[in-house]
Amino acid sequence: MRHLSVPRNQTQVWLERCKANGWLADTGVVALDEHLRAIPLSDAAPNAEDERWEGHEHVDMTPNEQNPQHWHQHLPPELQSLPDSLWPRAYELQGDVLLVKLEDDVLPYAHAMATAMLDHMPNVRLVCADEGVHGDFRVRNLRILGSRDGSAETETTVREHDAVIRVDPASVYFSARLSQQRWGTYEAVQALRERLGHPVVVADPYAGVGPAFPLLLKHEGLVSGYLAGDMNPRAVELLTVNLDRWTRKSTSVFSPSSVVCKDARTWKDEEPLRGKAHVVLVNLPHDSFEHLPALFPLFDQEGLTLLRGWAIVERESLP
Ligand SMILES: C[S@@+](CC[C@H](N)C(=O)[O-])C[C@H]1O[C@@H](n2cnc3c(N)ncnc32)[C@H](O)[C@@H]1O
Repeated sequence: MRHLSVPRNQTQVWLERCKANGWLADTGVVALDEHLRAIPLSDAAPNAEDERWEGHEHVDMTPNEQNPQHWHQHLPPELQSLPDSLWPRAYELQGDVLLVKLEDDVLPYAHAMATAMLDHMPNVRLVCADEGVHGDFRVRNLRILGSRDGSAETETTVREHDAVIRVDPASVYFSARLSQQRWGTYEAVQALRERLGHPVVVADPYAGVGPAFPLLLKHEGLVSGYLAGDMNPRAVELLTVNLDRWTRKSTSVFSPSSVVCKDARTWKDEEPLRGKAHVVLVNLPHDSFEHLPALFPLFDQEGLTLLRGWAIVERESLP
């Protein structure tokens, strides 16, 4: 069966061109080698000499009857025989950026792997090796393995609980896996609001890009004000953009509505940040307990309040 041979990075363009002209057969694209892809042509496609092919060759080959079910099937033929156990299993998709945890033995094939992933997942633009979080800002060490458009831009948009969140996995902590935790926060704040009988002020001094907020802010009558911040200036940049988006269309007027770039332990020294919160979120799992004493002054000092935090502790210290 006749196929059009094109450089890998032109596959999408030629697929669309062939489809628009009715020249595309309904079998799958085939990887010829690391750099070339073969697009299946229908009988309606012009012959190989036609100038509309812009010099790309035609090759005769067995059609790929099955659309690949998995990115492994887009690997160059010589890598397809490697054991499945070699390839990574831990992925996280943030918007159009795919984060992949790699073991050492896959490193020699990391580039081919990223290419196969881009071929298989049209919604992915950038594939990065996730080398773990580091430093006070808990930011992931990312290494770019492949890019669909040649750009190294890591800022992207995530959708969660019907909200749009701007994130940048290369410079601010965010984990798509924690969406259930954020739902739990919403339920806990809702329960407090029921018990108090009035909307509440929420403080999130370790907010990152602010993923705890969209669920809280979209429920009219739940939150009366917010204090949000982070010590990472890039986080505060995205947090500001995100909060603006989440509050723009609300009919509520939020007061307070502060966004600060500060060490959370110093909030207590500023009158506008002190004594206002009914809810304080403490999302710094390695250091929560050390920070707690400095955070208590943030609470409204009358009535019921809620502290919701996360801590990583040695099993022996659990009691
Ligand atoms: C584990 S992340 C949580 C981020 C966000 N709450 C989330 O769930 O995506 C902890 C955040 O705290 C920030 N951070 C670390 N130390 C801080 C401090 N002393 N004061 C304020 N923010 C701090 C980091 O920059 C990071 O964004």
